[in-house]
Amino acid sequence: MRIIRVADRAAGSLAAAKLFIELAEANPTKPVGLATGGTMSGVYSKLRELGLRPSCQDAFALDEYLDIDPASQNSYLYELNQSFAQALGWTGTLHVPGQGDYRGSSGIELFEQRIAALGPLSVQLLGLGTNGHVAFNEPGSDFDSRTRVVELHPQTRADNARFFESEEQMPTHATTQGLATIRQASNLLLLVFGENKKPALAKALSDPDPLTPLAALTDHANLVLITDLDI
Ligand code: GLP
Repeated sequence: MRIIRVADRAAGSLAAAKLFIELAEANPTKPVGLATGGTMSGVYSKLRELGLRPSCQDAFALDEYLDIDPASQNSYLYELNQSFAQALGWTGTLHVPGQGDYRGSSGIELFEQRIAALGPLSVQLLGLGTNGHVAFNEPGSDFDSRTRVVELHPQTRADNARFFESEEQMPTHATTQGLATIRQASNLLLLVFGENKKPALAKALSDPDPLTPLAALTDHANLVLITDLDI
């Protein structure tokens, strides 16, 4: 693992935006892997400021809330359409697990087949949950897991409720790429900013166990961690 230590979130988002494009453009016929949430919106804003976008034709999302209306502002499909595709003027195809062709169990299988057919992804963006989740692979997820429907951890529901009008509206389940699915990408770009993520990152790096999802990825040959944390 290569660690890039940055002064703060803004510097980290800038470094991530530049490296994301460098890795995507090293293999422009391959899809990129996108993520959502507060950390990633900073990266997409930097790409927009810099006037950068990948030239690939396809992008795969990590996860999506189960059964959420694709037009809802809280759906990850909506978020990626707004903050990535439209904001950057990127006109390729977004593949979001659990949405469109990828609904239901046959859709999940198709999603895996599409990644296998179009991949490997040149670069996968990754964040980290305060409870150590990666995508929506909650603690205890099988290191060999594939794309599937999962129940969200209470900590995840509490953390992400801020994006919804009330905690009751926060979904209980999601569709997520599995840890083995994520591991297939040629490069992993993990971004961890803020003291509230420090316990989860420290655990994964210094005392990993089978309950630590990130431990499934730390031996990836091309993992870059960009962080403002002193770890
Ligand atoms: C979310 C997403 C993850 C994301 C992580 C961190 O729930 N499912 O893919 O990377 O949790 O989110 P944030 O950047 O908002 O802290």
